[in-house]
Amino acid sequence: MPLTLDDVSFSQAEQRLPLSKPFTLVVFGASGDLARRKLLPALCALDCDGQLPAGARILGFARSDMTDDSFRDEVRKSASLSCHGHKLGEQQWQDFSARLLYFRGQYDSVSDFRGLQQRIEDLARQSGQPANCLFYLATPPGAFAPIVRSLKASGLARGSGGKVEQAGPWSRIIVEKPFGRDLQSALDLNAEIRQCFAERQIFRIDHYLGKETVQNLMVLRFANSVFEPIWNHKYIDHVQVTVAETLGAEGRAGYYDKSGAVRDIVQNHMMHLLCMVAMEPPGSLDADAVRNEKVKVLRSLRRIEPHCAASSVVRGQYTAGLMDGRDVPGYRQLKGVGPDSMTETFVAFKAFVDNWRWSGVPFYFRTGKRLPERRTTISIHFRPVPQVLFNAPPTGPVAANVLAIRVQPNEGISMEFQVKVPGMAMRIQRLKMDFSHAEAFGAEPPEAYQRLLLDAALGDQTLFTRDDEVEEAWKFVSPILEGCAMQPGEKLAFYEAGTWGPKEAFDLIADDGNRWHVT
Ligand code: NDP
Ligand code: BG6
Repeated sequence: MPLTLDDVSFSQAEQRLPLSKPFTLVVFGASGDLARRKLLPALCALDCDGQLPAGARILGFARSDMTDDSFRDEVRKSASLSCHGHKLGEQQWQDFSARLLYFRGQYDSVSDFRGLQQRIEDLARQSGQPANCLFYLATPPGAFAPIVRSLKASGLARGSGGKVEQAGPWSRIIVEKPFGRDLQSALDLNAEIRQCFAERQIFRIDHYLGKETVQNLMVLRFANSVFEPIWNHKYIDHVQVTVAETLGAEGRAGYYDKSGAVRDIVQNHMMHLLCMVAMEPPGSLDADAVRNEKVKVLRSLRRIEPHCAASSVVRGQYTAGLMDGRDVPGYRQLKGVGPDSMTETFVAFKAFVDNWRWSGVPFYFRTGKRLPERRTTISIHFRPVPQVLFNAPPTGPVAANVLAIRVQPNEGISMEFQVKVPGMAMRIQRLKMDFSHAEAFGAEPPEAYQRLLLDAALGDQTLFTRDDEVEEAWKFVSPILEGCAMQPGEKLAFYEAGTWGPKEAFDLIADDGNRWHVT
């Protein structure tokens, strides 16, 4: 069906392009999975789109023994490199690789950081440009504080938050998630970073906020008049959020085994999804107006007290199983994971947002690795129609309406509703009205990191997490972690790889008379 689109741009990034001031992006942990699979391909795609200013450089920093050339060779191996969705051409690679440099160092060595500073200044001098710096912490979280201390001690953390129009070099810091291990460590990390960077220089990244479909939630809710009047406890029965992954923790055990699904997905990605669904309309699209509303949602979240955590939160771990016809090992069989690891690779729980709008509406959350499909979906389940007419016996019960937001893949939105099946009899069938991003716009949405890296380079914090947001999210999650750790032997439910998680997760929702929408 042809679509008529009234194209109105609200994107600050688009309005301010192209960037006039070059910068050096220092990627700490440049030898790692995130850098190789997501960050460098996103930067390459930005370069192909002409969105990196001439003179912008990417300086990889890690302990691994590499030179500029061997770093470039490693980057080139990344299967995710592309240009406008196509395989990268030779000239495009040459242009991009000319921006890539490598610096080998230890994260806690001030002298290595002084060497890094020297290199950045030399590069700036050669190009006659100010030494603007964007530091990206893409290491496991344990290295964040040592890096910040080294930045401070070496004098690299300086300058302003850097509005593009300001003169003089600016520096900013992008910090990956999870930001801390619990509330106290998040407070400590915030305090540590604030010793050398002002809040306007700090970009706590959560790539879910850069996903088109997550941003589209704001548009769906606040650019359409049909949803807002029914977006509350009077019309919504419950909400489900599923973040399902087919991937296991292969190759990332060092990070994942200390993290687990609660810290890896719930504390950050899921809390942001919740906020986008549940927040009140902000007064404007300014970074702080939006983030103020998100914080209010987190403050309204009913706490799951430690003594209730083990009984009300389902924690699971995958065992060996079959996926796509191939045997995959169990979590405990992975290199770097102990045979008695109690780390959860699956979590399911129910939460309540105790405010006027959401009073009494359960929000069910579920995330896991090695599930049968990669699928992130938010489904809004409306209340059933009254038990009269079609919803009375013998025709009832009639399925309630469901608005399903497919965050990924096959990005889009569908509305499930009832229609009459043609014929003499009065038969009812559930149908879907569907919007598919690829069909409507003719292309897959861009990778989230492209948008976020560009925003950070422009100094736009709207899609980044503010200090109070991260702290409020931990206030909800920390008692859960504490409670689960208190439980003797830590209750852990096992599920076979390639299945939809442990039975307990099905019981959790079935106890309320509901069932998971995605199965
Ligand atoms: P990796 O385990 O691949 O680590 C990245 C690099 O950090 C490694 O190559 C290594 O480089 C260095 N490193 C590893 N372990 C340590 C350690 N104990 N102390 C200091 N340095 C270490 O992690 P990822 O790239 O997967 O993740 C990095 C961060 O990005 C995490 O915070 C994660 O939550 C976040 N993230 C990851 C995503 C992903 O898909 N991978 C997606 C979104 C966020 P070297 O030894 O050369 O110094
Ligand atoms: C990261 C987690 O934040 O998100 C990973 O550390 C997870 O464990 C990844 O695989 C999922 O991202 P996406 O964009 O594939 O949903």
